[in-house]
Amino acid sequence: MTKTILMCSPTYFAVEYEINPWMHTDNPVQLDMAKQQWQKLHDIYTEKLNWEVKLVEPVEHLPDMVFTANGALLYQGKVALPNFRQPDRQPETAKFEAWFKQQGYDQQFLPKYNFEGEGDALIWNDLLFAGYPWRTDKPAHREVADFLQIKTVSLQLADARFYHLDTALTIVDKTTVAIYPKAFTKESQQLIHQIVPHVIEASDQDAVAYGLNAMSDGKNIVIPEGANNLIAKYREHGYSVHPTPISEFQKSGGGVKCLTLEIRV
Ligand code: ARG
Repeated sequence: MTKTILMCSPTYFAVEYEINPWMHTDNPVQLDMAKQQWQKLHDIYTEKLNWEVKLVEPVEHLPDMVFTANGALLYQGKVALPNFRQPDRQPETAKFEAWFKQQGYDQQFLPKYNFEGEGDALIWNDLLFAGYPWRTDKPAHREVADFLQIKTVSLQLADARFYHLDTALTIVDKTTVAIYPKAFTKESQQLIHQIVPHVIEASDQDAVAYGLNAMSDGKNIVIPEGANNLIAKYREHGYSVHPTPISEFQKSGGGVKCLTLEIRV
């Protein structure tokens, strides 16, 4: 299945502030390496998988704009915009809003509560899995569900290192998701198992390598390298796995999925 996605070049990417446990301003990004890693990811999408990549213009002093997953959640042509928790990221919203307007998306909605786009909101079939409480407020789930008219299941995250849902759960295919169980409360783990027929569980090492922050089209899985247990499990299940380095983005608490927003028309 082909996909259309939105990326943002890492021209101004840096760790300029600390808003998650991975970010340390004294552990700076090597920008050349970040650019190479981003390009490699971009080329896997376009050349190996034949996905269409659209680009939003990067903005100076918005170093996290490269993480387009936080720029929106799209469903059936509607755009739920992000209301970022941290003031450092709040100016990104207007940039994404303008990009979607210019592309002709006129049904846009800005939640009143904090909501960080696909970072905390992953669509599985016709269901929305929505994460809280680190970056997205639980009441935002209802606001977004009402706007998009989609059935929504709230999942509670329990480990500050996995502060966005997309760092703890991967949508793999119509019957499968992968999770890092310890990133969720017991109740939310059980909920996932009740709803999804096949749940692949990642190890501690997979999670720390950001292995859950991956993109799948149901056949191909693009995943941070180093998530070895998860990569082996995917291969056993017959998926075609594309591991790729993301070390520079992980210094900011980001990986493959964070660098990717799905454009659902
Ligand atoms: N430095 C960014 C932040 O803390 C990383 C965002 C990662 N994005 C994601 N979808 N998990 O906001």
